[in-house]
Amino acid sequence: MKKVVIPVAGLGTRFLPATKAIPKEMITLVDQPLIQYVVQEAVSAGFTDIILVTHSSKQAIENHFDHNFELEVSLARKNKVALIEKLKAIIPPHINIISVRQPEPLGLGHAVLCAAPVIGDEHFAVILPDVILNTGSNDLKQMVTAFTKSDQSQIMVEKVPKNEVDKYGIADCGGEALEPTDSKPMKGVVEKPSPKNAPSNLSVTGRYVLDNSVLNLLKTTPKGAGNEIQLTDAIAELIESKGVQAYCLEGKSYDCGDKLGYMKASVQFAANHPELGKEFSRWLQTFKTELTK
Ligand code: G1P
Repeated sequence: MKKVVIPVAGLGTRFLPATKAIPKEMITLVDQPLIQYVVQEAVSAGFTDIILVTHSSKQAIENHFDHNFELEVSLARKNKVALIEKLKAIIPPHINIISVRQPEPLGLGHAVLCAAPVIGDEHFAVILPDVILNTGSNDLKQMVTAFTKSDQSQIMVEKVPKNEVDKYGIADCGGEALEPTDSKPMKGVVEKPSPKNAPSNLSVTGRYVLDNSVLNLLKTTPKGAGNEIQLTDAIAELIESKGVQAYCLEGKSYDCGDKLGYMKASVQFAANHPELGKEFSRWLQTFKTELTK
């Protein structure tokens, strides 16, 4: 499996005013934009074709993965070797970044369908770039392995508090307990149910490894929650036709499309930072003591 779809056409209204003139995916988490984290995750899971489903206001994302000739020449003239290496590390040369446009904001299902001509007849993955994973093991890679073994699509899930289920797609695994890295058959999935009607508290966490036939289903998926064409609804149909499994995340997810989620991720990734993490964590301890005074 080599193709991964990353929908980036959303306007990021949850993050205004920060996202008025810059794409939400270009907001920086410590020292690299959010989109770079998810592209690196895809590359380390073995994907080589990254399909961005994008919008006219989002050219900064494509520019980030392209060469910046003037900058490179200017750095080379000044012999700034370390900085040139940092630029090269953004994307390995064997990776293809491909963009397609989503002309209208008709929902996540529609965004994935916009990538269909590039996906062709291959199975593929979807990564939602708002969701940043802190995972030592590569959960996405494990999902691809589980897909290959079972021949069934894999949907990443994570437990959320019951009162937050209306923010997510919620999976029904028939009450089966899921331990990290488990893949268990899904009986249903529903987009943003009320806590009263939710089949569980297992939220869909922005990583999907999908059977190609979902594209055919998406062609006729009617508008659902929020009056949008929902990927979740096509997956509910895929459960009936092919079977789908829920994969339980081993790491931890941060919703970086949400201000509080982003703030938590900033602390986590600052603590993880290879050069600054130790010093930051020491400062954090002191800060915590000051806060509790
Ligand atoms: C989307 C999906 C939802 C999923 C969520 C994860 O919703 O439709 O199923 O649980 O991402 O962040 P959105 O956040 O775009 O409303």
